[in-house]
Amino acid sequence: MTTQMQVSKCLFPVAGLGTRFLPATKEIPKEMLPLIDKPIIHYGVEEAVRSGCKDIVFVTGRGKRAIEDYFDRSWELEQLLEARDKFDLRDMVRDISHMARFSYVRQCEPLGLGHAVLCGEQVCEGEPFGVILPDDVMLGTPPVLGQLISVHRTFGGSVLALQEVTPEDTSRYGIVDADPVGEGVYRIRNMVEKPPLSQAPSRLAIMGRYVLSPGIFRELHDLNPGAGGEYQLTDAIRALLDKESVWGFVYRGKRLDCGTKAGWLRATTIMAMEDPETRQIVLSALEEGGNVR
Ligand code: UTP
Repeated sequence: MTTQMQVSKCLFPVAGLGTRFLPATKEIPKEMLPLIDKPIIHYGVEEAVRSGCKDIVFVTGRGKRAIEDYFDRSWELEQLLEARDKFDLRDMVRDISHMARFSYVRQCEPLGLGHAVLCGEQVCEGEPFGVILPDDVMLGTPPVLGQLISVHRTFGGSVLALQEVTPEDTSRYGIVDADPVGEGVYRIRNMVEKPPLSQAPSRLAIMGRYVLSPGIFRELHDLNPGAGGEYQLTDAIRALLDKESVWGFVYRGKRLDCGTKAGWLRATTIMAMEDPETRQIVLSALEEGGNVR
């Protein structure tokens, strides 16, 4: 067992345009769309905090002010709730701003995920840090980022979240070429972006959780734009492979992709079915289905 630095910071790239969810995301960041009773981003921040991160760094862009306001104190609302003796609600609203220390850096142009992570350099340099893509809500105990941090503590280097996908789905994800080294842990040899099944080195896909070594910033600086003219994080991690260990971990938990209409609807239904109260609402709505017009 090697001694590793604590992972105390978690970066949330949230500067993307959310085009797959238009028109809902024309004025509202997709991260602020509700999943049952909390915005999608709230789940990711809870995961980071439960994983031991104290500093949450958002990489934001145009039109993302609602995220900053959500994690800030809302004095007027707190006072109004207090004046109406709604102390539980006041505390709930206030606790959101106390979850962690929040800071914000700006990505002036959405030039890709790699570029977004590079925008976090000033805050995250010099230590390993977590990255959460909040579109993917992860339900897991221990939290999925925490599982990656445990692998980092044992093996060092960078760690990517992996999930086995169906053969038809390899062309939707980054797929790794990797050797198993322990329970669920793989040493990554290479990675291929969205390969057709015939060219996929495995069925292990990279999902939106990472622990990255600070060495990633050197690779991001040297990066050329890749697919779609964007700076791809995958390309920088591939370059890192020549210099440092990169591990993959097949996390234990459930992934709910909330970045598309279909994914969000599925996630909302699955979450609603988990709770006896909302489950009843879904079931009776299904009985009514089709009879609204
Ligand atoms: P996506 O690929 O989901 O892109 O980005 P998007 O723009 O958010 O959504 P679509 O595809 O247009 O519907 C993955 C993550 O990387 C962030 C996004 O906010 C999301 O969390 N991102 C992407 C940035 O922060 N900056 C970028 O330039 C691109």
